[in-house]
Amino acid sequence: MALSDFDLVLFGGGGDLAMRKLLPAMYNRDRAQALPATARIICVGRQPWSREEFMRVVEENAKPHIAEKMFESVLWNRFCERLDYVTLDASDASTYPALAEKLRIDSIVTRVFYLATPPSLFATICNNLASAGLATSNSRVVLEKPLGRDLASAKQINAEVGRVFSESQIFRIDHYLGKETVQNLLALRFGNVLFEPLWRREWISDVQITIAEQLGVGNRMNYYETAGALRDMLQNHLLQLLCIVAMEPPVSSAADAVRDEKLKVLRSLKRFTPQALTHNVIRGQYRSGHVGGVAVPGYRKEQDANPTSRTETFVAVKAEIDTWRWAGVPFYLRTGKRMADSLAEVVVRFKQLPHSIFPQASGLAPNSLIIRLQPDEGLQLNLMAKTPGDGMRLKPVELELDFRETFKTPRMEAYERLLLDVLRGQLTLFMRSDELEAAWEWVEPVLKHWEAEEDDPIPYAAGTWGPAAASALIGRDGLQWREESLPEL
Ligand code: BG6
Repeated sequence: MALSDFDLVLFGGGGDLAMRKLLPAMYNRDRAQALPATARIICVGRQPWSREEFMRVVEENAKPHIAEKMFESVLWNRFCERLDYVTLDASDASTYPALAEKLRIDSIVTRVFYLATPPSLFATICNNLASAGLATSNSRVVLEKPLGRDLASAKQINAEVGRVFSESQIFRIDHYLGKETVQNLLALRFGNVLFEPLWRREWISDVQITIAEQLGVGNRMNYYETAGALRDMLQNHLLQLLCIVAMEPPVSSAADAVRDEKLKVLRSLKRFTPQALTHNVIRGQYRSGHVGGVAVPGYRKEQDANPTSRTETFVAVKAEIDTWRWAGVPFYLRTGKRMADSLAEVVVRFKQLPHSIFPQASGLAPNSLIIRLQPDEGLQLNLMAKTPGDGMRLKPVELELDFRETFKTPRMEAYERLLLDVLRGQLTLFMRSDELEAAWEWVEPVLKHWEAEEDDPIPYAAGTWGPAAASALIGRDGLQWREESLPEL
C-alpha cells in the first residue's frame, strides 16, 4: 500500500535512538522507494543547531549506522534533503510556534509526532502540541519505551496522552513486535494447521523465552540505573513475546482482534504469591568477567555507575497462565546483560513419549521447536530419527529453516516496519493502553518485593548465563535451560 504524504516529527531528534535507529530506518525505506517524494522528517531538540550544524551531526552519527551494502551517496543526499531541524524546548509552550511554521497545513498530509524522549515529557509535549493547534485529526503520536516505571505512572501517561489524542492515534512502540521472526511466529501458528492441535497443555511441557545480550549498559547508565532488566526488557519485550506464543487464535489480523487476545494472556497470568516472589523470580547483577574473550568490568564499576547499585541486570521468572489451554505449563522468561552469548529465542518443548516401543533405554529426547529471533532468524524442529544401519537406534535430528537462506529478499529492520505501520495507521503491532497497564499490573508486585527486600541482586560473572539460582529455578521442575541441555562441544 503506497504511503500518503507525511511530516514526521522526531522529538529527541538529535538523540541516540534517532541517530542509531530511526533515521537509518527511514533512509532504508527511502532507498526502497517507499516514501512519497515530498515526505519530510523534522527533527526537534533543545540544541540550538542550525540546519547545517544538524546535518553534520547526522553525517557523523546516523550515517555510520547504515549497512555498507545499503549505502549509496546519491540516495543518501536525496534522503538528507527531506531532513530539517527545529530548536525547541519540549516543556516550553512558547517554542512550539517554530515547529508549527514547518508543518504543512493540509489534512491529507499525515502528521506523526514520535516522542523519543523520557516518559516524564510525554504529557507536557502532547499538551503543548494541543495548545499550539498541532494535534489535529490527521496526527498520530508514537510513544517510545519506557512507558512509565510502574502501574500508576503508566496509567497517568495513558490518561494524559489520551486527553489529547484518541486511542487510534496512539502508537506505543515495542520494537520486538517489529522483528521478522515475531511476525513469523504468527505465520507459523496461524498459517499452518500442524501446530495448533499440539499448542496446548496436553502436548507442551514448557516454554522458555530468552533474550540474552553480551553487551553491557554502555553509555546508558543514567537510564539503566533507574530501570533495570525488569523494566527495560521483561515488562515489555519478554511479555510481548509471551503473548504472541500463548494467545488464542484471533479472528483476524485486525489490530483489536490481535490486541484483545494478547490482553487476555496478560490478564490470565497467575499473580505472584509471597512464596512465588521468593522462589520464582531471580534477579542478578553482573560482576567483572570475560565476554567473547575480552575482560569487562562489573556493573558497579561501569562508567558513571553507583558503586553500591542494587539495579538488576538479569532477571529470570517462572510464569504461569491460568487458562484451559495453558494451566500447569511453566513459561520461563529470562533476560540479562553481559551474558555468555547474544541471542533471542523461544523454545517450545513437547512432552515425553507416552510409551516407547523401542528397546533403547535412554536418549529419546522429547521434540522441541526453537524459534530464533537473533542472531540468525529461523526455526529448528528437533525430531527423533533412526540412525542408518542394522538395529533400531534413534537419535535426535534437527530440521532447520533458515529464513535468510530461504528468502533471499532483503530484510527489514524492526524500526523500518514499525515506522511504516505508523505512517499507514496500522495498529496491530502496537500496544493498546489496557495491554500496557495489564503488563505493569503483573510485574508490579515483583518491583515492590525487591524494594522491600534487603538482599542485593545475586552477583554473576560477566560472560556467563547468569546466577546459578536461575538454573535452580528451572531445575526444581526437573528441567534445564536449553544451553544446559546441549552436549558440550
Ligand atoms: C531495548 C533495551 O529496548 O532493547 C536495551 O532498552 C536492549 O537495553 C535492546 O539492549 C535490545 O534490543 P535488540 O533488538 O538489540 O535485541
